[in-house]
Amino acid sequence: MSASQIRDVAEIGMKMDDVIPLWFGEGAWPTPTRIVNAAVDAMQNASHKYQPNNGTVELRETIRQYCQAQFKAHCSLSQITVTPSGMQGLMLSAQLLTSPGDRVVAIEPSWPNIVGCYEAMGADVHGVSLRAHEGRWQLDMEQLLDSLDKSTKIFIVNSPNNPTGWTLSTSEQQQILDHCRRLGIWIVADDVYARLYRHAAAAPSFLSIADPTDRLISVNSFSKSWSMTGWRLGWLVTPPECEVALGQLTEFNTSCTPGFTQHAGITALREGESDIAELTQRLNAGYKATAKALRGMSRVEFIDPDGAFYAFFRVEGLNDSYQAALNILKETKVGLAPGSAFGQTGEGYLRLCYAQPVDVLEEAFNRLEPYLT
Ligand SMILES: Cc1ncc(COP(=O)(O)O)c(C=O)c1O
Repeated sequence: MSASQIRDVAEIGMKMDDVIPLWFGEGAWPTPTRIVNAAVDAMQNASHKYQPNNGTVELRETIRQYCQAQFKAHCSLSQITVTPSGMQGLMLSAQLLTSPGDRVVAIEPSWPNIVGCYEAMGADVHGVSLRAHEGRWQLDMEQLLDSLDKSTKIFIVNSPNNPTGWTLSTSEQQQILDHCRRLGIWIVADDVYARLYRHAAAAPSFLSIADPTDRLISVNSFSKSWSMTGWRLGWLVTPPECEVALGQLTEFNTSCTPGFTQHAGITALREGESDIAELTQRLNAGYKATAKALRGMSRVEFIDPDGAFYAFFRVEGLNDSYQAALNILKETKVGLAPGSAFGQTGEGYLRLCYAQPVDVLEEAFNRLEPYLT
């Protein structure tokens, strides 16, 4: 298996002083206090034991209600499994669905871990590339549907997308769902950026249009919307018949998600809407500063993201983005992710996470300017 190039660059940068770290997908801000307090209370009140494989009933029920409120998804409790992170949710989905040699289709560019866990299970992954056209990322639906052929078992899609911010519309989701229903293809929808959508309170989700029996797995996480990256807490929405197998797989992976983090998750979902609103305001400011700075740099092609919190930009003349990210790190002390980490389509691009205060971003752009102009 190949190592993550994002990690490779970051490992070097984390040993340096005065680096502005824009490589990972996480914000500068701490977890909201009410969520931290909920975990502290739970620890003090003895939430110290093994928990049910699929999560506590209270958190599963809270997630069920949240999915109904946000996505108009009519789920039963048996469709919800709590996972110790979105990443673990992705891995569980790969373990659940994949046999060696299975054909899996994924959208590119893609966060490498999504494809990585399917490859770890022996899948034969085929990429369908987004194209940047007139300042926007676009999907060629005909090409995708051709690629989702009879021999395909799973389609994985992350929308809003890391790294591009590209987001599927409801009508595109409907076309994909209809096609996958006809051919019996599983859809694994990575919805971790669903609430970080620049045009509405939530991005379109397959959950809003699917039936409980559809072959759909939605992967979600507390990491991004509630600033909980280090907590490792997420969830899956699946057809009800996956519940037992997911519980068994969880038993052999981590056995359960810690009780006190699950308590924190309940508070995040029930009381955290104002925290998301505050984060959204901060991200808007970060987006504006980033768009203005990158649009002003002559070698940069800035492609507007619809969601998530990244700028994924092309740099004229750049043909080794990994080496460029290393050089930029050494010479400017700004940590970026190389576009090649996200698949071949990403070569020539760099990614930065703009979930930072505006003054930090401005300092980063001052440092980057000589490189990108
Ligand atoms: C697209 C996508 N999916 C899933 C995750 C995993 O989130 P976590 O494991 O922190 O819940 C990330 C994290 O960067 C991501 O970008």
